[in-house]
Amino acid sequence: MNEQTLSMRLERVAAYVPVGARLADIGSDHAYLPVALVLRGAIEAAVAGEVALTPFHAARRSVRENELDDQITVRLANGLAAIEPGDGITAISLCGMGGETIRDILDSDKACLSGQELLIMQPNGGEQPLRQWLMDNGYRILCEEVLRENRFDYEIIVAERSGPVLYSDEELYFGPVLMQARSPAFLAKWQRMLHSRQKTLADFARARQVVPEAKVQEIAQQVQWISELLA
Ligand SMILES: C[S@@+](CC[C@H](N)C(=O)[O-])C[C@H]1O[C@@H](n2cnc3c(N)ncnc32)[C@H](O)[C@@H]1O
Repeated sequence: MNEQTLSMRLERVAAYVPVGARLADIGSDHAYLPVALVLRGAIEAAVAGEVALTPFHAARRSVRENELDDQITVRLANGLAAIEPGDGITAISLCGMGGETIRDILDSDKACLSGQELLIMQPNGGEQPLRQWLMDNGYRILCEEVLRENRFDYEIIVAERSGPVLYSDEELYFGPVLMQARSPAFLAKWQRMLHSRQKTLADFARARQVVPEAKVQEIAQQVQWISELLA
């Protein structure tokens, strides 16, 4: 993967970034996503935010090597602190981090969000707590996608602030849009998850030490939901 040839995962994320957007890519690492989008003429400008020094330097190098300093600003910053009011950001991407990390980034700097930005997120796990935060903060989930690459299932969640929205526990777990669409990739993911959760329950039953009842109930609930989904 590089700024010319994105992974399928980032290519699918790129597809949700509106044409002409001013993008803030938080946790940008090499800044492959914003560099690719600017090179294609798909977005107007971008901020690449990084909290760690090595990826920050990698992002600066990508931007410099592609002579994009006028269109992409790279900032060393924690989460949304990378965004400045004058940036006029219209879309924010947060990809390749745990769902809880993305949630914490959004939550700790809520005041930085104007509410006009489209959020494009690709959590590595932790989708449920991320969706919970979106619901609790009045964000409607517009698009969702599951894709499989290198034997990993990735989810993409796109949301915008809309006012109060209510999702059921199952919708928060599976994704409200994904549950409706029931794509082959989505069903295959949950088929694999069902086997894994059933194995976990069987391991609990054989375990030498007592597993807390709440943990057993949590996994049993998930097995029930997944079985119903796939029935
Ligand atoms: C696995 S990389 C993902 C890079 C790229 N977004 C992608 O999807 O390919 C995650 C990056 O997020 C950065 N990161 C983690 N927490 C962050 C935070 N609070 N603020 C900014 N960057 C963060 C890490 O330093 C790391 O470079």
